[in-house]
Amino acid sequence: MNLTLKIWRQKNASDKGKMMDYALSDVSPDMSFLEMLDVLNQELIEKGEEPVAFDHDCREGICGTCSLYINGRAHGPATKITACQLHMRSFNDGDTIYIEPWRAKAFPVVKDLIVDRTAFDRIQQAGGFISVNTSGNTQDANAIPIEKEHADKAFDAATCIGCGACVATCKNSSAMLFVGAKVSQFALLPQGKVEATDRVLNMVKQMDEEGFGNCTNTGACEVECPKGISLENIARMNQEYLKASLKG
Ligand code: SF4
Ligand code: FES
Repeated sequence: MNLTLKIWRQKNASDKGKMMDYALSDVSPDMSFLEMLDVLNQELIEKGEEPVAFDHDCREGICGTCSLYINGRAHGPATKITACQLHMRSFNDGDTIYIEPWRAKAFPVVKDLIVDRTAFDRIQQAGGFISVNTSGNTQDANAIPIEKEHADKAFDAATCIGCGACVATCKNSSAMLFVGAKVSQFALLPQGKVEATDRVLNMVKQMDEEGFGNCTNTGACEVECPKGISLENIARMNQEYLKASLKG
């Protein structure tokens, strides 16, 4: 396949940045999207040019780092996969492919296609955990009975990989699907109930402080989420927030 790539290049956070064109030939349809970028970078390095900076780690859909906006969609044209799981057979010979970073005020561009997603880390640090009593009397978690429906929903929420596609695709740059998943994961389990009030209040406060927008129920986040996190988690977070606010 011969392709024209239009890629966002930006030297650093203060650089204005612009789209640049690259012609790439002999691309195998069996390559992953990131392998195709590796080939481009190899060519750029051999020509003495600066390679394109992009985030990646696991390359198997579990770390959430490969945050690429491809042809106007988070993680590209396929659904329920990350950019590293996308293959070049999803494109046609002669295609022009637009590759951009996530665009959101709370995710500033660091370089080229890499954005700073530490806002998500700070939200997690505000409450996305449970405190465990390690005094020697800790109860075996497997000995705590949990309704199957709750266990399944908590597990589904826990599959969120923190990729940020929900934010990038939302017209308001809302992080409510991510925060909803992180709140729900614990709200549904007995272990999470102890700190439930502080958790939801603190995580939502941090989310607002980071500059994410509000949810207006468009649902684009659910469509583009590679893990199929349901909007139901946003509703659950809102219920938890209301309960916590009334207690407080
Ligand atoms: S909710 Fe989905 S899109 Fe948002 S961070 Fe989690 S996995 Fe990514
Ligand atoms: S590189 Fe880990 S999810 Fe894509």
